[in-house]
Amino acid sequence: MTAESQQVDGAGEPVPVLTVDGPSGSGKGTISRAVAARLGWHFLDSGALYRAVGVAAGWEDADLGDTEGLVALTHRTQVQFVDDPGGEPHVLINGVEATSELRTETAGAAASAIAAIPEVRAALVERQRAFRQSPGLVADGRDMGTVIFPDAGVKVFLTASAEERAQRRHKQLKDKGLDVTLDGLLREIVARDARDAQRPVAPLKPADDAVTVDSTGVPITTVVEQVLALVPESFRKSHTPD
Ligand code: C5P
Repeated sequence: MTAESQQVDGAGEPVPVLTVDGPSGSGKGTISRAVAARLGWHFLDSGALYRAVGVAAGWEDADLGDTEGLVALTHRTQVQFVDDPGGEPHVLINGVEATSELRTETAGAAASAIAAIPEVRAALVERQRAFRQSPGLVADGRDMGTVIFPDAGVKVFLTASAEERAQRRHKQLKDKGLDVTLDGLLREIVARDARDAQRPVAPLKPADDAVTVDSTGVPITTVVEQVLALVPESFRKSHTPD
């Protein structure tokens, strides 16, 4: 563990981190965001950073075989999260509104492709650790508990059957007015999971000390309570502002 992964609060205590890792469509985003709001903690959507680099690579027609070029692109791609009280935060890439584009399956596939490049992952490490700010952080991703915040006090591995994840994604994208088929989504989810789990660097897998939560058939509100129950009371009290 490095010093950077252990930012401290005003009292010199390490800022607490709850990591939520898992495959695409497991409900990580919705659940982690709700848990962060309930705890009054910050939230890191690490997938959005990979998606943003994937989208920026598309905008620049970048060569995915040119690692050096991609690392430079990663460093110069600015990603801004702007809170929206009415829903999900907006994401700006280099100042340009990109929230909808970021959520497309094309962006997800681009993210998954560039996320398999170790140098790109390395270029995003410190940016992710910088989100660790008092009073606490909920970090959502694939390697939050294994690589980025190995000292996190609570680690969750959130999963659900591929069919259920495809159905959830289908509903989400349809609600956003995007035209997608359930079969196509299921195929993409299975392919993306396989790529994420088989890559040599930071593969998708539970940390040894993670608690696995299976959300198949379980309402989101119940999963939120299950995850909150894993955060010790002492952990919250000492770090949550009055
Ligand atoms: O979580 P989300 O679906 O937005 O992530 C998009 C892609 O970014 C994932 O399929 C994965 O390949 C990559 N990713 C990653 N490590 C993370 C978060 C996302 O490799 N911590």
